[in-house]
Amino acid sequence: MNAAWGMISSGDKIALFINERHATTKAIHQTGAFTVSIADRDHMDVADYYGIATGNTLPDKFAQSGYHAEKSAHVNAPIITEFPVTMECELAEVVQTENIHAIVGTIVNVSADEKVIGENGKVDPEKLNALAFDNFQSGYYLVNQKVGQAWSAGKELAQKAQRQ
Ligand SMILES: Cc1cc2nc3c(=O)[nH]c(=O)nc-3n(C[C@H](O)[C@H](O)[C@H](O)COP(=O)(O)O)c2cc1C
Repeated sequence: MNAAWGMISSGDKIALFINERHATTKAIHQTGAFTVSIADRDHMDVADYYGIATGNTLPDKFAQSGYHAEKSAHVNAPIITEFPVTMECELAEVVQTENIHAIVGTIVNVSADEKVIGENGKVDPEKLNALAFDNFQSGYYLVNQKVGQAWSAGKELAQKAQRQ
């Protein structure tokens, strides 16, 4: 499935706000594991297709996409080989309240294509060309322009506040 609502929720945890009726959600309950791939510009159409079609009515939803999958060496879930970055997760918790249905996973491994790795050996967003979903206009936007350094851009202000 395509999931826009979710994010890292602590150092090694990811929370996905996904509906319990999705075929994906049922599969996660069955296997106790899942993978999360980052949709990028080159794979936008298929990522969108995964958000339109449902495995509840299409038995071969994945096959129809023409993409390929291999079993993760770390968790009981498949990795879609076409996507450049994938988080391999074990189901840690299901949070069900009146307002939230969240699947929380422990990220046990991250696999990445060489071509998105930067000089420092880490995933480089400028190479990844990840997509962000915009809730206002339902658009996909590119996330590939670095505009600042976290824990640094606000340093001067923090130091000034401390001196006062
Ligand atoms: C851009 C986009 C974002 C989506 N984000 C979510 C989401 O965060 N949570 C959710 O429950 N469904 C989301 N969906 C809907 C599911 O991806 C969709 O219902 C899908 O058909 C479920 O597939 P499945 O039944 O095979 O698991 C999104 C769909 C799109 C197109």
